[in-house]
Amino acid sequence: MVRILLVGSGGREHSIADVLARSEGVELYSYMSSLNPGISNLSKEYVVGNVKELGAIEKWALSKKVELAVIGPEAPLEKGLADALTAKQVKVCGPTRNASRIEWDKAYARKLMQELNMRECARFVATNNLKEAAEFIDSLNGAVAVKPAGLTGGKGVKVVGSQLKDGEEAKAYAKEVLESSIGGLAEVVVEERLEGEEFTLQAFVDGTNVIGMPLVQDHKRAYEGDMGPNTGGMGSYSYPDHLLPFIQEADKEDALEAMRKVVRALASKEGAYNGILYGQFMAGKEGVKLIEFNARFGDPEAMNVLPLLKSDFAELAFGIAEGALGEKKAKFSSKATVCKYLVPEGYPSKPIKNQPVEVDVGAIKNAGARIFYASIDERDGKLYSLSSRTAAVVGIASEISEAEQAAENACSFVKGKLFHRRDIGTASLIERRIKHMKELRG
Ligand code: AMP
Ligand code: GLY
Repeated sequence: MVRILLVGSGGREHSIADVLARSEGVELYSYMSSLNPGISNLSKEYVVGNVKELGAIEKWALSKKVELAVIGPEAPLEKGLADALTAKQVKVCGPTRNASRIEWDKAYARKLMQELNMRECARFVATNNLKEAAEFIDSLNGAVAVKPAGLTGGKGVKVVGSQLKDGEEAKAYAKEVLESSIGGLAEVVVEERLEGEEFTLQAFVDGTNVIGMPLVQDHKRAYEGDMGPNTGGMGSYSYPDHLLPFIQEADKEDALEAMRKVVRALASKEGAYNGILYGQFMAGKEGVKLIEFNARFGDPEAMNVLPLLKSDFAELAFGIAEGALGEKKAKFSSKATVCKYLVPEGYPSKPIKNQPVEVDVGAIKNAGARIFYASIDERDGKLYSLSSRTAAVVGIASEISEAEQAAENACSFVKGKLFHRRDIGTASLIERRIKHMKELRG
């Protein structure tokens, strides 16, 4: 038996636990910040504790004699969990603190791309000087995105035309970011506002080899029609050909090449990157531009790709950790997926918590879907929502329309004070995306 540690407790980690549990001869040991009933059911043993307390995780991992650790979320990567475990001879699928800086310091990521002269880099300034930020905002007539450099759980970015009205509001937000140190780092990043359609490319990286996964489109905004505040992601879909109907093979190749460049640069500057690399891109008139890198699977995007994985995930994770992906293959089924997150009423600003949730797992399965638990607690055999995204359902089928219907049906078998975006994966939403791209690219 191979003992594997999984760190994290969200929907993403439930889907990672699911593929690890499918691997033959694997025993799963899970360290979670809240008791995810999906993960605990798949684990030989688990602990509920703070995933940023490296000492406690390390001690437990060593006492359980785990051989490999898979780190789900960004916070323990930033703290240096991969470094700590590697120092104790545990193999790790997850980059070191220095290599994961590509996610936890957006100023660093931009400056690295600029140094490499990458076409995919948006125009930007990264500064702790408000005057410099304001001048840049004016120079772009206020068409900007303002981002704290540090981690904000996906909720720190504000874009003029969406969360910000104009350049003046952009300046006021840049001031707030600097004065209140939002994200915990000293700089604010101001970027040109990119126009186009977003897509996510996730890749397995072993320090050298970069193996891409199917493309996914996530939905950051809380409400239907892409309205409302930004969230961690309300749902996502993918196509059987592993592209998107408005994204060409050439766009995917560009994105993959950009990721290879960054992996090579990180290897020489920070030491090898061994983990999952996530690129969020905007495809538009001028080709593909980077929105952000993450040093881990996306949440929800992991739940689109992992259920399609035909290869053995534990083998891939060892390959990533050992720098030995070269001869390994990652195969995915040619199916469509639609993932919809059920979230508490009031999410993200005023979520109502501690509400009972009832799930009919059998009916969800019969509907052609899966459920992955996230911010949910199990007490006395009953489920209760917490304050973040509650659970995700994923419809999987030959056609996107069927996958969407399956996900929608599955949502009706999760009862509680929850809501979800019914438009994710629907024909009308996707048609809009295709039309938008035609307008941009002709
Ligand atoms: P992030 O937290 O970096 O994923 O950003 C949240 C959302 O803000 C993204 O999904 C985009 O929709 C939007 N965004 C971020 N950067 C830009 C940009 N430079 N131009 C336009 N939209 C952006
Ligand atoms: N879905 C966006 C993220 O995981 O950051």
